[in-house]
Amino acid sequence: MPTICFANSKGGAGKSTTTLLVGQVLAEAGRTVCVLDADPNQPLGSWADRTGDDMPENLAIVRDVTEKTILDVLEEEESKNDFVLIDLEGTASIAVSYAISASDLVVIPCQGTQLDVDQAARVIALVKNGERQTRRKIPFSILFTRVNPAIRPRDLTHIERELAAAGIPTFKSAVTQRAVYSTIFQTGGTIYQMSKADASNVERAIENAEAVTQELINKLKEVAHG
Ligand SMILES: Nc1ncnc2c1ncn2[C@@H]1O[C@H](COP(=O)(O)OP(=O)(O)O)[C@@H](O)[C@H]1O
Ligand SMILES: [Mg+2]
Repeated sequence: MPTICFANSKGGAGKSTTTLLVGQVLAEAGRTVCVLDADPNQPLGSWADRTGDDMPENLAIVRDVTEKTILDVLEEEESKNDFVLIDLEGTASIAVSYAISASDLVVIPCQGTQLDVDQAARVIALVKNGERQTRRKIPFSILFTRVNPAIRPRDLTHIERELAAAGIPTFKSAVTQRAVYSTIFQTGGTIYQMSKADASNVERAIENAEAVTQELINKLKEVAHG
């Protein structure tokens, strides 16, 4: 039932990658997942084309979701699926506002530099607008992406401390920079279907995607329990 959107008006922040990884992990765990591709560039629609018959049966991609259709599609898919994920475009559009207002959790994927964090503040402003419109709290959290898996850069540690001081929620886990994560967009398929030739890298990529997804589930539980 819960709906989670991945929002950041900055292109290249890691929205589509993160949406797809979370969708794959949840599907692998046996949950029914519907991903709405609300980006006119249709990155997840293209991924679905490349995946073809390898698509997990409990993972569905709904294409061409626009401001005209998003609320209807959401209503229908929320009633049919354990999770609905929304991959948004990299601008502040009406569809983005609708998605934020309808979400149980807004994840803000963001690379760990000051410039990117400044952009994330724009999304937080949209969330606050959504709260005023809907007269309810809309939980959100920044999720750092493309983080070096070997070391946590000093910049990032500093940024995390500043955000914590400002009371802005962040994920403790991060989506690490991994070739496997861009390869799935080129080849289609899931991280669980990747060639065993690159076994150790695939395994680490799976562990990372699962850790991020687990933290996301924990955040949803916190939200549900007030
Ligand atoms: N964690 C990651 N590891 C490797 N490549 C990544 C990662 N996150 C994003 N990328 C790459 O960066 C580019 C932008 O990522 P994408 O998820 O499409 O961002 P957005 O949807 O926010 O525009 C893509 O080429 C993608 O393959
Ligand atoms: Mg995208």
